[in-house]
Amino acid sequence: MNEKLDAQKLTESAKQFLWGTFGKDPSYFDTPGSIVVSAQGPYVTDIHGVRYIDSQGSAGSAILGFNHPHVLEAMVRQLSAVAQNPSGWPASVPQVQLAEKIASLSPGSLKYTIFACNGTDANETAIKIARKYYKLQGKSGKYKVIGRYRNYHGMSLATLAAGGVVQRRKDYEPLPPGFTHIATPYCYRCRYPADHPQCAGRYADELRQAIEFEDPSSIACYLGEQTVFGGGVLPPPPDYMRRIREICDEHDILLIADEVVTGFGRTGAWFESAKYGIVPDIITLAKAITSGHAPLSATHVKEEIARAFFGGGDRLFQHGFTFGGMPVACAAGLATLEFIEETGLLATVPEKSARFVRELERIQERSPLVGDVRSHGMLFGVELVRDKETKEVWPLPEREGIAKAIVAEGKRHGVLLAPYTLHGTLIVVLAPPLTIEDTELEAIASALEAALREAEKTAASGLPKKGAGVSPGDLPRQRR
Ligand SMILES: Cc1ncc(COP(=O)(O)O)c(C=O)c1O
Repeated sequence: MNEKLDAQKLTESAKQFLWGTFGKDPSYFDTPGSIVVSAQGPYVTDIHGVRYIDSQGSAGSAILGFNHPHVLEAMVRQLSAVAQNPSGWPASVPQVQLAEKIASLSPGSLKYTIFACNGTDANETAIKIARKYYKLQGKSGKYKVIGRYRNYHGMSLATLAAGGVVQRRKDYEPLPPGFTHIATPYCYRCRYPADHPQCAGRYADELRQAIEFEDPSSIACYLGEQTVFGGGVLPPPPDYMRRIREICDEHDILLIADEVVTGFGRTGAWFESAKYGIVPDIITLAKAITSGHAPLSATHVKEEIARAFFGGGDRLFQHGFTFGGMPVACAAGLATLEFIEETGLLATVPEKSARFVRELERIQERSPLVGDVRSHGMLFGVELVRDKETKEVWPLPEREGIAKAIVAEGKRHGVLLAPYTLHGTLIVVLAPPLTIEDTELEAIASALEAALREAEKTAASGLPKKGAGVSPGDLPRQRR
């Protein structure tokens, strides 16, 4: 840590001036790990010199970990050439090269890429493409979007409307009209348990029904995650995505796959959709594209759809962002993809994932709180329940108290854990870098186990424990 940093003064400044992301109020800055000074690999170090493993690797972005030397080097090189987007938006060299690289990795006729900054922008862009695409074909009545409950697509009003996270949208309603939702397959809490293993068909039929009820001539696109991330790590059942593709084709509806989290390796493939043998019409990408080193997202579109917008006049896609596809971000993107490819990193995912799942399953056997362990590649979900038999969950205030205890105890053991209390469930979502060492995964597992023991005590007390947070003085000083 920079010796000149005055931790107390910084904490006071944060409390006075900084409105923290995702609803943090000033008291958050009294908790450890709330102001970071440096990061490397899976670790972040806070202003008190305490080092933590980020079990969710920068919200699922840091596929190569933090501050990866290969990525940093490419960014520095690009910074000294051209850092910003010039006006009139001429393309930069890394932008062109990254667009070509993405096309070389993606299946079928997916070819053209529009760059933006966040996953939100990428999804917003995709929805606008779908709407205008049908307008250009004289079908301006086709504008509705079918999304799925428990899916998250971003924080703008349209992406909140497309997503199915009521806690994130309810304060901003009314949201734009033209969005409707279907259920997401959720094996542990299946709506169609008697139909197993035919449940994929039942869930896919919900799309067919929604299309029919809404009128097929009014629907522009289906937008969904495949393996759901924040909604609880829910991989689709076999055959689900193939059926979704079929239904979209039958009704002339664009299939938009939100691969903001799963794109570029999280599931062990470049694109999750490729694992199901389907080609979406549009894939939205962000997070791992730069391993989280710079804000960058991509809306990757089939050639025949993109071409409908070329030729000027009314065809023009009137859309773009000042900071979309910044040269330095695209250089980070190229370096990230290059590193993944050259090191054969994706091939290491199945074994590493299986080893960590075994650890999590051992925890499940020992802990009365772990109802289910799920995974897809290097994405893991640990669902907590009050009663393993009934799968009953605590009401929200208790859930929040338990989640707080998990976070605090995780920090005490040097690991940042991320429990989600959305959707009436409590699920710890883990998404470590693909480059993480086995010993570091073991450290995450043992911190999680300790956190669950603490959670048991909180759950047994019935109410959130007051002051579940720990003070920086309680923490072990760790190697920086
Ligand atoms: C599946 C998915 N889509 C979209 C987003 C939004 O991305 P961003 O936060 O970069 O806007 C997220 C963010 O976590 C996500 O998980």
